Amino acid sequence: MTFSVWLLVCFCGLTLGQNVLPQTEVATEIGSCFPDMCKFLKEFGAMKAKLETVETNLKEKSEALETKLKEKQEVMETRQKETENQVLELKKKDATNIAFSAAIGGSGSNGHIGPFNTDTTIIYRKLIINVGNAYNQHTGIFAAPVPGIYYFTFFYHAVGTQVVNLSLMKNNEEVVTTYDHKTSHDVADNGGNAALLQLQQGDQVYVRMHANSHVWQNEQITTFSGVLLRQL
Ligand SMILES: *[C@@H]1O[C@H](CO)[C@@H](O)[C@H](O)[C@H]1NC(C)=O
Repeated sequence: MTFSVWLLVCFCGLTLGQNVLPQTEVATEIGSCFPDMCKFLKEFGAMKAKLETVETNLKEKSEALETKLKEKQEVMETRQKETENQVLELKKKDATNIAFSAAIGGSGSNGHIGPFNTDTTIIYRKLIINVGNAYNQHTGIFAAPVPGIYYFTFFYHAVGTQVVNLSLMKNNEEVVTTYDHKTSHDVADNGGNAALLQLQQGDQVYVRMHANSHVWQNEQITTFSGVLLRQL
């Protein structure tokens, strides 16, 4: 706009200046200059119109882009919220899915553990399942991650000629026990016990093998299992 005004002023100045010149000279001046100016102005006008169109197009496009981006952002935000909710739900589920089963295992060979002259905690190293990782296969101790009602079992196999004396322990308390006396007429014993326990978070449950007792160990035969039945 300013450019065209400036051009107009320039053009007027040119014609005014020419007024003082002799008539013949004016005619030649206008003849050589005026048509060019006209053409230029015309082209300038066309350029301006084109520029305006480009400007309008650009504006429309950027507005459309902005709308699209906004929509995309909204979709992403909704998705993020959904994911967060799913994670929360999974965490909740994780806390309530507690179950383990383990056998004593062994370093490839069958054999017996014990008898020892002190009480020992049996370490069931061969994991069958350990959902929730509340059982520690390096210590043999299950630690309740949430308060609730839990169910535990422990089964053993042993040589019949030796004593078996095992207890399911809740912290330092003997809950249930299984034992077999020394006999000479049976070669093998199998036994076990089970209990429902109400546990607080952090309570420890494990199997204690009493002094002078033994069990047979391999990948399948002497086991310890537990499951959370209901959270309280
Ligand atoms: C098992 O061990 C406990 C604790 O040491 C003991 O009191 C109990 O007499 C033992 N039972 C048998 C049958 O050896």
